[in-house]
Order: sequence, then structure tokens, then C-alpha cells
Amino acid sequence: MKLLVCGGAGFIGSNFVRLRLASSDDSILVLDKLTYAGRRESLRDLEENSRFEFRHGAIEDPDAVARAIDGTDAVVNFAAETHVDRSIAEPDAFVRTHALGTYVLLEAARERGVRYLQVSTDEVYGSIAEGSFSEASPLEPSSPYSATKAGADLLVAAYHRTFDLETMICRGSNNYGPYQYPEKLIPLMVLNALHSDRLPVYGDGLNVRNWLYVEDFGAGIGYVLEHGIPGETYNVGGPDECDNLTVVRRIIELCGADPELIEFVTDRPGHDRRYSLGSEKVAALGWRAQTRFEDGIERTVNWYRDNAWWWEPIRSGVYREYYERQYGTALS
Ligand code: NAD
Ligand code: TYD
Repeated sequence: MKLLVCGGAGFIGSNFVRLRLASSDDSILVLDKLTYAGRRESLRDLEENSRFEFRHGAIEDPDAVARAIDGTDAVVNFAAETHVDRSIAEPDAFVRTHALGTYVLLEAARERGVRYLQVSTDEVYGSIAEGSFSEASPLEPSSPYSATKAGADLLVAAYHRTFDLETMICRGSNNYGPYQYPEKLIPLMVLNALHSDRLPVYGDGLNVRNWLYVEDFGAGIGYVLEHGIPGETYNVGGPDECDNLTVVRRIIELCGADPELIEFVTDRPGHDRRYSLGSEKVAALGWRAQTRFEDGIERTVNWYRDNAWWWEPIRSGVYREYYERQYGTALS
């Protein structure tokens, strides 16, 4: 297949492109706006691959999208603003990219009859105290991030029902692994632990997330792209649940850091208590998560330890300003 991968310079997109180039004959064009979270460095090892091409552009720009989508068999859309805390502070870009950007992509796909896969999140379902969400669960998003992602999902579903466009939606649970921007829990804690900076845990630290190794999500998206039924949604959940405090304590152990670095800070407004996804539907296509949290977290810590070239420019750049705004304290 010839794939257009939007948002392929981000965390999950870059891992997906790497996996796909290694495990299929696909050729891939990445279209990415290169926001603060999008980085050419995350695709550095792929630049010489003749089946890979990068193009700088935004999904809300119809001309850039038209030029990129011509001749492709399928679009996989990862492009998004993805940090809940930023969506609380400044929701503007979330609305533009998720609503307008998704619309522009869908229109371009409809005009050309191109198959469309939307990458979405478990956060569209909101919080669940017990059990797991199925694809039929109602959408009850809590944050501007998850609300705008839910809006995008509904638009995708409407393009299938109204225009018969071949669309699919993949909802992943919390991903972790290499190349994740250090605003998210796991890379933030790893880098802070390696630098002996304080480890800011929101609220009581007992919020639970359903952790999914990023390569497992990429493989799940591949299964849906190849074997999914148009018009359907597929949950792709991780094999393990864990509360934040347990995650942070494990990172402390793996980094050899001081447990006293943990600091309980003011909770996030509207903080979802627990996410959990049932993944039976994607399992019926043949997918299984390969990486347990126990192994994945060790691999992730090792990757950050061994790849300072990737995160040092982030930690010394505009991230410092974001960090001070968000946490009211400076990094070392
Ligand atoms: P990320 O923030 O690391 O990457 C997002 C990428 O999209 C960046 O490369 C950015 O430059 C690009 N982008 C942003 N706005 C754009 C625009 N208007 N036009 C073109 N490119 C644009 O995010 P991620 O964690 O890799 O998430 C990718 C997708 O997966 C998102 O849709 C997210 O909602 C979804 N998702 C993420 C998780 C998670 O745990 N990170 C879990 C489930 C689903
Ligand atoms: P995050 O990585 O932002 O993902 P999401 O909110 O999309 O699940 O946060 C994961 C969990 O970690 C969430 O419960 C909030 C918590 N958290 C902290 O306790 N401290 C932090 O500094 C961050 C970024 C997150």
C-alpha cells in the first residue's frame, strides 16, 4: 500500500512508520505540521529509506492535504494535539486540529475514495470505576483534549454513514515507549528521576491507566488497516493496569533515584480516575499485545538513558518554559 501518515513525526506516528517500513512493503508519506511535539529527529533513522518521504504541512490546510493524498491507498491520521494539561490551559489548537483538520482530511479522502483510519483514544469514553469500555460504550469525555477527539470520531463515523467512505477508528489506551515527548507521565518521570528533579504526582496518585507499549498499538493499527471492517471502531487496550504512584515508584527503582523526590501536587481539574479498554474486537482480527508493562517500562527507561541526543535539545529548549508554567518550578 501507499500510505499517507498524518502526524508521523510524533511519538506513536514515528513508531508506527518504523514498524510498518520494517514489516510490510508499504511506501509511506508523512505529513506533519511539526508542532512542539513533532520532531524530524524521531524519523532520523528512516530518512535514507527509499519507501519513506517526509512533508511539512498541516492537516487543516486543504492544498497541502490535496498534494499529499493524491495517489495514496489509505490515510492514517495520528495528527493531533495530545496533552490534556495543555488542553486545559489553551484549548484553541485542539479545536482547530481535531475538528477542522479531521474535516479537511475526510473531504480529501471522500473526493478520491481513499480508505481512512482515525487514530483515537480511550479518553473519549471518560472514566470507568470498574470493568472495561467496549466500542459501544457512550462517549463522555472530560477534558478539551478528549472532547475534541470525540468530536473528530463522530465526524469520521458520519462520513461513513453519509458518504459511504471506508473509515475505521482505532481507540488506544495510554501508550508508552521511545520518542515520547517528556510532558507525559512516563518520560517526564524518567527524565526527572535521571536528573534528580522532583517527581510531581497529581492528587493522591491513585489514578489508574491501562498501559500499552507503543509498538503494540502500532501493530493493532496495522491489523485494523488490513483486516478492519469499514464503519467500525476498534479498541486497542494494553495488557496491564497500574496506578500512577506504582508507575513512578518503579521508574525510581529502574533509575536508581531517591523516593523522596516524589512530591504530591495539586490535582488536574476534571482528572479521570480510571481508564480501561476491552479489546476483544481487535483480538478477533488476530491482534494480541506482546509487551507486558513490566518489560516495556524497563525497555523504555533504558531507551531514554541511552538516547540523550533525542531528549537533550527538548529539555534545554522551550520545554523549560512550559515546565515552569505547568509546575511552577524549574528543572535542574
Ligand atoms: P504527539 O503529540 O507525540 O504527536 C502528534 C503529532 O501530530 C506531532 O508530530 C505533531 O507535529 C503532529 N500535528 C499536530 N497538529 C497537526 C496538524 N494540525 N497537522 C499536521 N500534523 C499535526 O502525539 P501521540 O502521542 O503520538 O498521539 C498520536 C495520536 O494517537 C493522537 O491522535 C492521539 O490522540 C492518539 N492517542 C495517543 C495516546 C497516547 O497515550 N499518547 C493514546 C491513544 C491515542
Ligand atoms: P498523561 O501522561 O498526561 O496521560 P493522560 O492524562 O492522557 O492519561 O498522564 C497520565 C497520568 O499521570 C494521569 O493520571 C495524570 C498523571 N500525571 C501526574 O501525576 N503528574 C504529571 O506530571 C503528569 C504529566 C501526569
